[in-house]
Amino acid sequence: MSERNIIAIHDLRSPATGAGIPEIPALPAGTELSPGLLSDSLGRTLHDLRISVTDRCNFRCSYCMPKEVFDKDYRFLPQTALLSFEEMLRIARIFVACGVRKIRLTGGEPLLRRHLEHLVAMLADLRTPDGDPLDLTLTTNGSLLARKAAALRQAGLRRVTVSLDAMDDRIFRAMNDVDFPVADVLAGIDAAVAAGLGPVKVNMVVKRGTNENEIVPMARHFRERHGGQVVLRFIEYMDVGATNGWRMDQVLPSAEVRARLHAAFPLVPLDAAQPGETAERWAYADGRGEVGFISSVTQAFCGDCNRARLSTEGQLYLCLFAERGHDLRSLLRGAHPSGRPWSDAEIAAAIGLIWQRRDDRYSQLRASRPAETDTPESGGRRRIEMSYIGG
Ligand code: GTP
Ligand code: 5AD
Ligand code: SF4
Ligand code: SF4
Repeated sequence: MSERNIIAIHDLRSPATGAGIPEIPALPAGTELSPGLLSDSLGRTLHDLRISVTDRCNFRCSYCMPKEVFDKDYRFLPQTALLSFEEMLRIARIFVACGVRKIRLTGGEPLLRRHLEHLVAMLADLRTPDGDPLDLTLTTNGSLLARKAAALRQAGLRRVTVSLDAMDDRIFRAMNDVDFPVADVLAGIDAAVAAGLGPVKVNMVVKRGTNENEIVPMARHFRERHGGQVVLRFIEYMDVGATNGWRMDQVLPSAEVRARLHAAFPLVPLDAAQPGETAERWAYADGRGEVGFISSVTQAFCGDCNRARLSTEGQLYLCLFAERGHDLRSLLRGAHPSGRPWSDAEIAAAIGLIWQRRDDRYSQLRASRPAETDTPESGGRRRIEMSYIGG
């Protein structure tokens, strides 16, 4: 696993502010969001909010936080830059008023944020205008899950997604690059199922030449041990961020992954459960659960992308591949020109304006360009890191 092709990072995090808040539309005082669903410029409705609660992680997966970049000299965000739980709750409540129905907590590794269960409990109390609870979930590398699953469930988390790239301990230790044993993540998944956080989704990023031989063993383990309680999803390795040295020849297309799996365990297609879903769903023909394929590279799903992302420091990103965010923290902490704080209604109106102008569809556009024209080495666009805005 020593194949390294690392690119220096450009710091695209906090914008250089000073003269106003350039990423936030100018708001007349007292502006209010008109009621109804928020649609962007391509007709896509805001539905999911992903909140990154820390930019730190205890793993160093080379496709996400390569050690050479995220080393002891890397400057993670200072404590003062991070949104507090109260600020996250306020912004989440405003997003719910704007139509959000699903909230995912991400990182970095979200379970590294102290007392995360307090934030979960706060968010679990939110209700939609119809009085329904939100679909509240979390993406984790599973390393701390065995210890925390029961408390998270108790706090009101509904389900959990665990990232896991291999069953083979040697391959897994090499991929996380901190020598973390697979047994502890598997114990975390067992604990999540036992705590009632199912169906647990397990996300496996497939890299050709690295973990492709783990496809069938992963499927076998989860269907035999957990049946329908764990849904394994295979993710195409993406060109996200600017540090992982992504190359197209390292992508194993979902069609190929599916063919390999089908040869071992016959599959039948399932209908989508919800509009805007990332994964295409297939069931095992013998009834022992389902799997998903997330084909962001070979079959972009921008057409109904309903996801907004909030970084740990309160920057709103409209696409995983965005070059810049919109500084909502300035609205939470700053003041209206008259000196009073911005109201929830004004912040909702700002979010509404930002979403209505949204035209991002990076993966779809990329599919129509030769891959080489958009790598950081060839002077392509600069992108934010996935560990900063969450997966
Ligand atoms: P569920 O509601 O549990 O189905 O979650 P989800 O699939 O919406 O979210 P999850 O975080 O599990 O997404 C799985 C993976 O899909 C991520 O780790 C990314 O690799 C990829 N992914 C998620 N959202 C997007 C997106 O908006 N664009 C692209 N290109 N990839 C995405
Ligand atoms: N390609 C695809 N998925 C990625 N993730 C991180 N980096 C990449 C990438 N380059 C996803 C993985 C991980 C989650 C946190 O983000 O699914 O589980
Ligand atoms: Fe950490 Fe997940 Fe990134 Fe791996 S993919 S370094 S576990 S945030
Ligand atoms: Fe959404 Fe951007 Fe991903 Fe397309 S590339 S699905 S617009 S986040």
